[in-house]
Amino acid sequence: MLQHWSRAIAHIWGLEGSLTQLDGEYDLNFSVATPTEQFVLKVMRPGCEQAFVDMQCLSLEHLHQQSLSAQVPVPQVITTLEGQNFTVYHDPRGKPRIVWLVSKFEGLNYAHFQPKSGVLIHQLGSYMGHMSAQLESFNHAYLKRDFKWNLMQSGWIEAELGCIENLERKEIITSIVEQFKALETDLNNLPQQCIHNDVNDYNILVQGSLNQAPHISGIIDLGDMCLAPRVCDLAIAGAYIVLDQAQPEQALAQLVAGVHSSAPLTAMEVALVWPLLRMRLAVSVVNSTLMALDNPDDPYITISQGPAWAFLQNHRMSGGLIEARLRFACGLPLNTAAKPTLAWLSEHSGAFFPLLGADIDLNQAPMVDLSVEGRSIPQDPFSIQPHEAQQLINPNLQLALGYYLEPRLVYTGKAFKNGSWPSSNRRTVHLGLDIFAPAGTALHAPLAATVEAIDNRQANLDYGGVVILRHRSPRGDEFYSLYGHLNPSSVTQLKVGQELSAGEVTQLKVGQELSAGDVFAHLGEPSHNGGWDPHVHVQLALSIEGMGYDWPGAVDPDDMNLWQSVCPNPSLLLNLDHDVTQYSPPSKDHAQQVRQDHFGQNLKLSYAEPVMFLRGWRHYLFDEWGRPYLDAYNNVPHVGHAHPRVAQVAAEQLVRINTNSRYLHPSRSAFAEQVLSHMPSELSVCYFVNSGSEANELALRLARAHTGAKQIITPQHGYFGNTTGTVDISAYKFASPKARAGGLSQPDWVHLVDVADDYRGQYRRDDKAAGELYAQQVAQHIATLKTNGEQLAGFIAETFPSVGGQIVPPPDYLQHVYKHVRSAGGLCIADEVQTGLGRLGDFYFGFEQQQVVPDVVVLGKPIGNGHPIGVVVTRPAIAASFAHGPEFFSTFGGSNLSCVVGTEVLRIVEDEQLMNNAQDMGKLLFAGLRKLQREHACIGDVRGFGLFVGVDLISDPDSRKPATQIADYVKNRMCEERILMGSEGPDDNVLKIRPPLTIGAEDVNHLLHMLDKVMHEVKVLTA
Ligand SMILES: Cc1ncc(COP(=O)(O)O)c(C=O)c1O
Repeated sequence: MLQHWSRAIAHIWGLEGSLTQLDGEYDLNFSVATPTEQFVLKVMRPGCEQAFVDMQCLSLEHLHQQSLSAQVPVPQVITTLEGQNFTVYHDPRGKPRIVWLVSKFEGLNYAHFQPKSGVLIHQLGSYMGHMSAQLESFNHAYLKRDFKWNLMQSGWIEAELGCIENLERKEIITSIVEQFKALETDLNNLPQQCIHNDVNDYNILVQGSLNQAPHISGIIDLGDMCLAPRVCDLAIAGAYIVLDQAQPEQALAQLVAGVHSSAPLTAMEVALVWPLLRMRLAVSVVNSTLMALDNPDDPYITISQGPAWAFLQNHRMSGGLIEARLRFACGLPLNTAAKPTLAWLSEHSGAFFPLLGADIDLNQAPMVDLSVEGRSIPQDPFSIQPHEAQQLINPNLQLALGYYLEPRLVYTGKAFKNGSWPSSNRRTVHLGLDIFAPAGTALHAPLAATVEAIDNRQANLDYGGVVILRHRSPRGDEFYSLYGHLNPSSVTQLKVGQELSAGEVTQLKVGQELSAGDVFAHLGEPSHNGGWDPHVHVQLALSIEGMGYDWPGAVDPDDMNLWQSVCPNPSLLLNLDHDVTQYSPPSKDHAQQVRQDHFGQNLKLSYAEPVMFLRGWRHYLFDEWGRPYLDAYNNVPHVGHAHPRVAQVAAEQLVRINTNSRYLHPSRSAFAEQVLSHMPSELSVCYFVNSGSEANELALRLARAHTGAKQIITPQHGYFGNTTGTVDISAYKFASPKARAGGLSQPDWVHLVDVADDYRGQYRRDDKAAGELYAQQVAQHIATLKTNGEQLAGFIAETFPSVGGQIVPPPDYLQHVYKHVRSAGGLCIADEVQTGLGRLGDFYFGFEQQQVVPDVVVLGKPIGNGHPIGVVVTRPAIAASFAHGPEFFSTFGGSNLSCVVGTEVLRIVEDEQLMNNAQDMGKLLFAGLRKLQREHACIGDVRGFGLFVGVDLISDPDSRKPATQIADYVKNRMCEERILMGSEGPDDNVLKIRPPLTIGAEDVNHLLHMLDKVMHEVKVLTA
């Protein structure tokens, strides 16, 4: 058959090309590749009407005639040698078939493309806007046909609902149909035009790569064109865009905004998008249910309905809120009343009746900072404690105000979380204004109102008593105000013996009219206001469409702008200054600018889009808007960010004494005893310094003092610190591409051996002698030194090289190395900064895994959990040699503060069994990563121990070529998904995972889930 159609192509178009058959529902489609170009040959079904093909060809021609700036990527019709758009050719069975040829686009179906970013969806919308504007002037007789996929004719499904057996599903579809019928008049009043009518996820092509942002490369198949209001086109595309999206409403908003950017939508059209989208999904599922009944043996028909049913059943989003979101995305006001209402409120602000009564001027009240940055309440951002909720303000303050739009970590209830992972997004941004005042304080209606709703929400950390008032502007526009944390009995019933003040309203009832100044409620005690410091949360809403009486008091920062348009700053109603009461967080831009202007430019920022963190807790970090991140990268907060025990011992020590090691103090001996309790007994002398760099400097001095020699052997790509001496031994620095420009080179007393990398190095895992062979390089250097009459001071290495690519050397490597070094009189120095203190799960130190006892051990980073501490531990004889020299003193090393912190960190590792946790979580992580390795060819190696993990990415399994670009992509995408990891290795292709040791199973699963998702994207982008 292919030969037949090859001949046809040569005959009709004069083209020589190879053919491959493509999918097609009714017609035959072939991809045609000539040496220079690609086409699609369309062989129409027997009996196909010429007008049907003519319509498509002319519409494509019409679209190609538009100005370049508004050009939509649709296929170009290739005319025959005779200048026709299409012709008739007989198929192998002798049947006449209409054939036509169009240009072919590069790209993948949107259905299979990943990631489906907001930018990509917006671009699709923008093309669709152009397309609908251009098709408005296109007409063809064939467009006027009866067609089940024309949304204007979709009422046919009503008569077919009997085919849906599942009652829940049937109810959903029935309600969609009812809603559609209610809109038919509006729809019929809209102008009709030619529309594409089937921008589904298989008719959209996308192109992108690791270094090229994905873009829409083609919109194809105009075979479903018909006449309908242009919004139908948008709704149909929307019906595919929302499926399979974690945040479908955001995706839809991007599409609508894209359309609006090139073909502005009316408010009426925006209102129709959601109901029409649902109607399209209803048509799809009813159609495929009918097809499934006709084809009971084809399971694919039922399976293909799955995503649409799942969406209809699981995403019960409020149409009113979606409409608000779509209007906002288009820059349209919330509703027609919003603007005039705000203007009226602004004009009269200052003259409304004071909420707390005429005697209290809220403008005199101080603002209290409850922000992510400003307060450490709650200490645990996942669980606010009752005493914390009741200590939000200084108890000496009688009156204080809490900011509008302030990001807060106090909302720790489940209801504030938007996902199922511990670090899923949460609603942090306060959408009201708080007034802190004593319980019992009376609230006066700021202006005339009708009581809209009264409730007592008794759950902990909810509102307790809450009242919603409805107001009406002189223009007749309605708006609403909400007051939460009230004494429920003050609004729901009259208490026996309660004294009433003038104008006081008792037994507030829904529908009751209030005049400005009427007392309508009182502030509640913590026992009945949800458990909070007495205050009232005041919120304004320009509409309650879609949210009813369940207003979100705090919103997701990513949705803050939308919600601001629904619930503006209530300062207007409270006669307060908008600028004073609206929170603005520390500016990320400013922080970046100052850094750029005044910091050394070789101080690197992590990630393509730098992040600013203001709070940490365990293995989580929070940015300036309170967005949570899972920290799978930072090893310094070994026992978790902001550990309360560390904070407490540090604070207590600072108020007692913090001086230096020239005085006796029990904290110093306690720290030494703690450190030594984990060391082999031969290592019994400690030195305390301030950093890993300083500790390695000291280690070098010990080696020189003890051996009287200077020569050092160390592996390639090692990192030991930022000081002159440690940079001298850090090949990662002095052998880096920028070393020369930095005035660095390899000193003549430093000798490099290969990193004992048994995955990519010259001796591999299948070689039982790999450890010995790598160690042989040390022996060779020693031999050369001997020949040159030089003497060895020692060998220094990170036990598991970290910047070298999270390498675990062969198990006997250090045994062989140490044997060689010692026989040459040198010292063996183990840098355990990255590997020590239980991170490896199975071992407290890396050298235990290698079954060696070093002469000098260097500890740093994690031992202070963020406080700068370095420790050197050595043998007494070495210390004795060093003691012959001048006094050793480090001003801050071994300060009382450092000692209590270091001791506490080590105790916490024990008390919280963090080494066990590293072992358990490591197992889970490795099992998951190995599973991903089986599924994703670019994962070449997964290595490490416990929570010291490297994932080596490759672009070719045979050569193991390092996939640097993939690692960069993955690291940055994971950060966008709010999970931190890094990349390392000489080629920067090894994903580095080394979280605080507190990480839990759900977090590990979260990481694996997201990594899988991002790896799928990689598969698509590198295909
Ligand atoms: C293995 C190793 N040693 C030493 C250091 C230097 O420690 P510091 O930055 O505390 O001086 C580092 C820092 O990254 C390190 O990773």
